[in-house]
Amino acid sequence: MEWGMANRMAQLIQSDGHALFLPVDHGYFQGPTRKLEEPGTTLEPLLPYADAIFITRGVLRSCVDPAHSKPVILRVSGGASMVGKDLANEGITTSMEEAIRLNASAVGISVFVGSDYEKESLLNLSKLVDEGERYGIPVMAVTAVGKELEKRDARYLALASRIAAELGARVVKTYWCENFEKVATGCTVPVIMAGGPQVESERQVFDFVYDGMQKGAIGINLGRNIWQNDFPVAMIKALRAIVHQNATAKEAQEIYDSEKSVER
Ligand code: 5RP
Repeated sequence: MEWGMANRMAQLIQSDGHALFLPVDHGYFQGPTRKLEEPGTTLEPLLPYADAIFITRGVLRSCVDPAHSKPVILRVSGGASMVGKDLANEGITTSMEEAIRLNASAVGISVFVGSDYEKESLLNLSKLVDEGERYGIPVMAVTAVGKELEKRDARYLALASRIAAELGARVVKTYWCENFEKVATGCTVPVIMAGGPQVESERQVFDFVYDGMQKGAIGINLGRNIWQNDFPVAMIKALRAIVHQNATAKEAQEIYDSEKSVER
Protein backbone atom coordinates (compact mmCIF):
# COMPACT_ATOMS: atom_id res chain seq x y z
CA MET A 1 0.00 0.00 0.00
CA GLU A 2 1.28 3.49 -0.91
CA TRP A 3 2.28 5.71 2.03
CA GLY A 4 -0.59 8.15 1.49
CA MET A 5 -3.20 5.42 1.34
CA ALA A 6 -1.70 3.66 4.37
CA ASN A 7 -1.58 6.95 6.30
CA ARG A 8 -5.22 7.75 5.54
CA MET A 9 -6.34 4.25 6.46
CA ALA A 10 -4.47 4.60 9.77
CA GLN A 11 -6.32 7.86 10.47
CA LEU A 12 -9.58 5.95 10.11
CA ILE A 13 -8.82 2.55 11.59
CA GLN A 14 -7.08 2.93 14.92
CA SER A 15 -4.04 0.97 16.16
CA ASP A 16 -6.32 -1.66 17.79
CA GLY A 17 -7.77 -2.39 14.33
CA HIS A 18 -11.13 -0.87 15.28
CA ALA A 19 -12.99 2.31 14.36
CA LEU A 20 -15.89 4.49 15.42
CA PHE A 21 -17.18 6.69 12.60
CA LEU A 22 -19.87 9.27 13.30
CA PRO A 23 -22.17 9.92 10.31
CA VAL A 24 -23.97 13.24 9.98
CA ASP A 25 -24.56 13.00 6.23
CA HIS A 26 -28.28 12.19 6.40
CA GLY A 27 -29.39 15.61 5.16
CA TYR A 28 -28.10 14.86 1.68
CA PHE A 29 -31.27 12.92 0.94
CA GLN A 30 -33.58 13.49 3.91
CA GLY A 31 -33.12 17.19 4.65
CA PRO A 32 -33.03 18.43 8.25
CA THR A 33 -33.31 15.09 10.02
CA ARG A 34 -34.55 15.13 13.64
CA LYS A 35 -31.75 16.25 15.99
CA LEU A 36 -29.53 17.02 13.02
CA GLU A 37 -31.26 20.28 12.16
CA GLU A 38 -28.09 22.12 13.21
CA PRO A 39 -25.30 19.68 12.46
CA GLY A 40 -22.58 21.79 14.12
CA THR A 41 -24.46 21.80 17.42
CA THR A 42 -25.14 18.06 17.21
CA LEU A 43 -21.54 17.27 16.39
CA GLU A 44 -19.68 19.46 18.85
CA PRO A 45 -20.06 17.42 22.09
CA LEU A 46 -19.64 14.11 20.21
CA LEU A 47 -16.53 14.94 18.21
CA PRO A 48 -14.01 14.04 20.94
CA TYR A 49 -15.31 10.45 20.96
CA ALA A 50 -15.38 9.84 17.19
CA ASP A 51 -12.45 8.52 15.17
CA ALA A 52 -13.82 10.11 11.98
CA ILE A 53 -16.93 11.89 10.73
CA PHE A 54 -18.97 11.00 7.63
CA ILE A 55 -20.21 14.24 6.14
CA THR A 56 -20.98 16.13 2.93
CA ARG A 57 -18.82 18.99 1.72
CA GLY A 58 -21.60 21.53 2.33
CA VAL A 59 -22.09 20.72 6.01
CA LEU A 60 -18.35 20.30 6.51
CA ARG A 61 -17.67 23.82 5.22
CA SER A 62 -20.58 25.49 6.97
CA CYS A 63 -20.69 23.68 10.31
CA VAL A 64 -17.29 22.23 11.22
CA ASP A 65 -14.37 24.26 12.53
CA PRO A 66 -11.32 23.29 10.45
CA ALA A 67 -9.07 23.90 13.46
CA HIS A 68 -10.94 21.40 15.64
CA SER A 69 -12.03 18.53 13.50
CA LYS A 70 -11.52 14.82 13.08
CA PRO A 71 -10.56 12.81 10.01
CA VAL A 72 -13.21 13.32 7.36
CA ILE A 73 -14.94 10.68 5.24
CA LEU A 74 -16.54 12.79 2.57
CA ARG A 75 -19.96 11.67 1.33
CA VAL A 76 -19.62 12.02 -2.46
CA SER A 77 -22.76 10.33 -3.75
CA GLY A 78 -26.23 11.83 -3.95
CA GLY A 79 -28.70 13.37 -6.35
CA ALA A 80 -31.86 11.67 -5.01
CA SER A 81 -34.21 12.55 -2.15
CA MET A 82 -36.84 11.02 0.13
CA VAL A 83 -39.57 12.69 -1.90
CA GLY A 84 -38.18 11.82 -5.32
CA LYS A 85 -38.92 8.80 -7.49
CA ASP A 86 -36.12 6.48 -6.44
CA LEU A 87 -33.50 6.85 -3.71
CA ALA A 88 -31.22 4.48 -5.59
CA ASN A 89 -30.81 6.88 -8.51
CA GLU A 90 -27.60 8.46 -7.21
CA GLY A 91 -24.58 9.84 -8.99
CA ILE A 92 -21.19 11.13 -7.87
CA THR A 93 -21.70 14.63 -6.46
CA THR A 94 -18.18 15.68 -5.51
CA SER A 95 -14.93 15.47 -7.41
CA MET A 96 -11.74 13.89 -6.13
CA GLU A 97 -10.06 17.29 -6.51
CA GLU A 98 -12.61 18.72 -4.04
CA ALA A 99 -11.99 15.80 -1.65
CA ILE A 100 -8.26 16.59 -1.74
CA ARG A 101 -8.94 20.31 -1.23
CA LEU A 102 -11.00 19.43 1.87
CA ASN A 103 -8.22 17.18 3.15
CA ALA A 104 -10.54 14.17 3.22
CA SER A 105 -9.16 10.96 4.67
CA ALA A 106 -11.62 8.93 2.58
CA VAL A 107 -14.65 9.27 0.36
CA GLY A 108 -17.94 7.41 0.76
CA ILE A 109 -20.48 6.33 -1.85
CA SER A 110 -23.68 4.28 -1.69
CA VAL A 111 -24.30 1.24 -3.86
CA PHE A 112 -27.80 -0.11 -4.42
CA VAL A 113 -27.44 -3.80 -5.24
CA GLY A 114 -30.67 -5.32 -6.56
CA SER A 115 -32.22 -1.95 -7.41
CA ASP A 116 -33.11 -0.55 -10.84
CA TYR A 117 -29.90 1.48 -10.54
CA GLU A 118 -27.63 -1.38 -9.49
CA LYS A 119 -25.35 -1.09 -12.51
CA GLU A 120 -25.01 2.70 -12.36
CA SER A 121 -24.22 2.72 -8.65
CA LEU A 122 -21.67 -0.09 -9.00
CA LEU A 123 -19.97 1.57 -11.96
CA ASN A 124 -19.91 4.84 -9.98
CA LEU A 125 -18.15 2.97 -7.19
CA SER A 126 -15.61 1.55 -9.65
CA LYS A 127 -14.94 4.97 -11.14
CA LEU A 128 -14.48 6.48 -7.70
CA VAL A 129 -12.06 3.70 -6.74
CA ASP A 130 -10.02 4.36 -9.89
CA GLU A 131 -9.71 8.03 -8.95
CA GLY A 132 -9.21 7.40 -5.24
CA GLU A 133 -6.42 4.92 -5.85
CA ARG A 134 -4.69 7.43 -8.14
CA TYR A 135 -4.46 9.92 -5.25
CA GLY A 136 -4.19 7.54 -2.30
CA ILE A 137 -7.70 8.19 -1.03
CA PRO A 138 -9.63 5.17 0.27
CA VAL A 139 -13.21 4.61 -0.81
CA MET A 140 -15.83 3.49 1.71
CA ALA A 141 -18.77 1.76 0.01
CA VAL A 142 -22.15 1.97 1.72
CA THR A 143 -24.47 -0.95 1.01
CA ALA A 144 -27.65 1.11 0.91
CA VAL A 145 -31.15 -0.36 1.01
CA GLY A 146 -33.16 2.79 0.27
CA LYS A 147 -36.59 2.52 1.85
CA GLU A 148 -36.52 -1.28 1.78
CA LEU A 149 -35.25 -1.88 5.29
CA GLU A 150 -36.34 -5.53 5.14
CA LYS A 151 -33.40 -6.15 2.81
CA ARG A 152 -31.17 -6.17 5.88
CA ASP A 153 -30.52 -9.91 6.05
CA ALA A 154 -27.26 -11.82 5.86
CA ARG A 155 -27.81 -13.18 2.36
CA TYR A 156 -28.40 -9.77 0.82
CA LEU A 157 -25.83 -7.86 2.87
CA ALA A 158 -23.13 -10.48 2.26
CA LEU A 159 -23.80 -10.25 -1.48
CA ALA A 160 -23.73 -6.46 -1.57
CA SER A 161 -20.68 -6.16 0.71
CA ARG A 162 -18.65 -8.67 -1.26
CA ILE A 163 -19.46 -6.98 -4.55
CA ALA A 164 -18.33 -3.64 -3.09
CA ALA A 165 -15.05 -5.20 -1.95
CA GLU A 166 -14.52 -6.86 -5.34
CA LEU A 167 -14.90 -3.48 -7.03
CA GLY A 168 -12.15 -2.03 -4.86
CA ALA A 169 -13.73 -0.41 -1.80
CA ARG A 170 -11.16 -0.25 1.01
CA VAL A 171 -13.88 -0.30 3.70
CA VAL A 172 -17.50 -1.45 3.48
CA LYS A 173 -20.27 0.02 5.59
CA THR A 174 -23.23 -2.28 5.92
CA TYR A 175 -25.96 -3.11 8.43
CA TRP A 176 -25.84 -5.48 11.34
CA CYS A 177 -28.07 -8.54 10.86
CA GLU A 178 -28.60 -12.01 12.31
CA ASN A 179 -25.73 -14.31 11.30
CA PHE A 180 -23.50 -11.29 10.75
CA GLU A 181 -20.44 -13.56 10.49
CA LYS A 182 -21.62 -14.48 6.97
CA VAL A 183 -21.37 -10.82 5.98
CA ALA A 184 -18.02 -10.17 7.65
CA THR A 185 -16.24 -13.33 6.53
CA GLY A 186 -17.50 -13.02 2.96
CA CYS A 187 -16.19 -9.49 2.64
CA THR A 188 -12.47 -9.25 1.91
CA VAL A 189 -12.02 -5.77 3.37
CA PRO A 190 -12.91 -4.34 6.82
CA VAL A 191 -16.63 -4.06 7.57
CA ILE A 192 -18.25 -1.29 9.60
CA MET A 193 -21.85 -1.42 10.88
CA ALA A 194 -24.44 1.32 10.37
CA GLY A 195 -27.41 1.59 12.67
CA GLY A 196 -30.46 2.57 10.66
CA PRO A 197 -33.47 4.29 12.26
CA GLN A 198 -33.40 4.71 16.03
CA VAL A 199 -34.35 1.48 17.82
CA GLU A 200 -36.45 1.26 20.98
CA SER A 201 -33.82 0.95 23.67
CA GLU A 202 -30.13 1.64 24.16
CA ARG A 203 -29.64 -1.97 25.17
CA GLN A 204 -30.76 -3.17 21.73
CA VAL A 205 -28.02 -1.02 20.18
CA PHE A 206 -25.36 -2.30 22.58
CA ASP A 207 -26.46 -5.88 21.93
CA PHE A 208 -26.22 -5.67 18.15
CA VAL A 209 -22.98 -3.73 18.15
CA TYR A 210 -21.39 -6.20 20.55
CA ASP A 211 -22.66 -9.14 18.50
CA GLY A 212 -21.37 -7.65 15.24
CA MET A 213 -17.96 -6.93 16.74
CA GLN A 214 -17.71 -10.54 17.98
CA LYS A 215 -18.63 -11.73 14.50
CA GLY A 216 -16.02 -9.79 12.57
CA ALA A 217 -17.02 -6.14 12.19
CA ILE A 218 -14.15 -3.74 12.91
CA GLY A 219 -16.40 -0.96 14.13
CA ILE A 220 -19.42 1.19 13.66
CA ASN A 221 -20.76 4.11 11.67
CA LEU A 222 -23.78 4.88 13.83
CA GLY A 223 -25.72 8.08 13.49
CA ARG A 224 -29.36 8.26 14.58
CA ASN A 225 -28.92 5.75 17.39
CA ILE A 226 -26.33 8.11 18.87
CA TRP A 227 -27.46 11.65 18.19
CA GLN A 228 -31.21 11.02 18.37
CA ASN A 229 -30.75 9.49 21.80
CA ASP A 230 -31.70 11.76 24.72
CA PHE A 231 -28.15 11.35 26.05
CA PRO A 232 -25.91 11.27 22.98
CA VAL A 233 -22.61 11.72 24.81
CA ALA A 234 -23.42 8.86 27.18
CA MET A 235 -24.38 6.79 24.15
CA ILE A 236 -21.20 7.40 22.19
CA LYS A 237 -19.01 6.79 25.25
CA ALA A 238 -20.74 3.47 25.90
CA LEU A 239 -20.39 2.44 22.25
CA ARG A 240 -16.76 3.49 22.22
CA ALA A 241 -16.17 1.09 25.10
CA ILE A 242 -17.56 -1.81 23.04
CA VAL A 243 -15.58 -0.84 19.95
CA HIS A 244 -12.24 0.05 21.54
CA GLN A 245 -12.20 -1.55 25.00
CA ASN A 246 -13.94 -4.82 24.25
CA ALA A 247 -16.75 -4.00 26.70
CA THR A 248 -19.79 -6.27 26.73
CA ALA A 249 -23.31 -4.97 26.07
CA LYS A 250 -23.99 -5.12 29.83
CA GLU A 251 -20.88 -3.08 30.59
CA ALA A 252 -21.85 -0.57 27.91
CA GLN A 253 -25.27 -0.22 29.52
CA GLU A 254 -23.59 0.50 32.87
CA ILE A 255 -21.40 3.17 31.26
CA TYR A 256 -24.48 4.70 29.60
CA ASP A 257 -26.44 4.73 32.86
CA SER A 258 -23.68 6.40 34.82
CA GLU A 259 -22.73 8.90 32.07
CA LYS A 260 -26.39 9.81 31.60
CA SER A 261 -26.56 11.30 35.07
CA VAL A 262 -23.50 13.47 34.25
CA GLU A 263 -25.03 14.64 30.96
CA ARG A 264 -28.46 15.37 32.48
C1 5RP B 1 -26.98 7.82 5.26
C2 5RP B 1 -25.83 7.04 5.67
C3 5RP B 1 -25.52 7.06 7.09
O1 5RP B 1 -24.18 7.37 7.20
C4 5RP B 1 -25.81 5.71 7.66
O2 5RP B 1 -27.14 5.34 7.40
C5 5RP B 1 -25.51 5.61 9.12
O3 5RP B 1 -26.36 6.33 9.87
P1 5RP B 1 -27.49 5.65 10.72
O4 5RP B 1 -26.78 4.89 11.81
O5 5RP B 1 -28.29 6.78 11.22
O6 5RP B 1 -28.26 4.72 9.82
O7 5RP B 1 -25.15 6.42 4.92
O8 5RP B 1 -27.10 7.68 3.94
